[in-house]
Amino acid sequence: MSQVAPILAARCSTCHSTDTVAAANTYVRGTSSCGGPRLVASDATASLLFQKVAGTQTCGGRMPRGCSGNSCLPQVQIDLIRDWINAGAPNN
Ligand code: HEC
Repeated sequence: MSQVAPILAARCSTCHSTDTVAAANTYVRGTSSCGGPRLVASDATASLLFQKVAGTQTCGGRMPRGCSGNSCLPQVQIDLIRDWINAGAPNN
């Protein structure tokens, strides 16, 4: 989370409660308005949080909302989020 939280603070906190590490942890572990959890620890592909930044979601739009091309997260940040989830999404 120490590498993921700054991304969520910078790119998501204007619309979601992700401005601090604690808030980001609470947000990612919460229940999505799409139904089901935002995060499935150790399974990025199944995690809405990852799907939404990678653009593979089947509910709503890609995040950050309205992004396209270079205004979406850079691949290196998408990979960081994927790797953190697949590592079990440690709360540190
Ligand atoms: C400009 C406002 C805005 C920004 C910035 C934004 N979102 Fe969202 N987000 C929304 C809105 C509105 C919805 C509901 C519509 C949808 O799902 O497309 C949403 C839905 C979501 C959902 C699914 C719904 C839920 O309850 O979980 C996730 C997950 C999500 N956003 C993650 C992110 C992440 C991660 C970022 C940063 C990379 C981000 N968002 C940036 C506005 C925003």
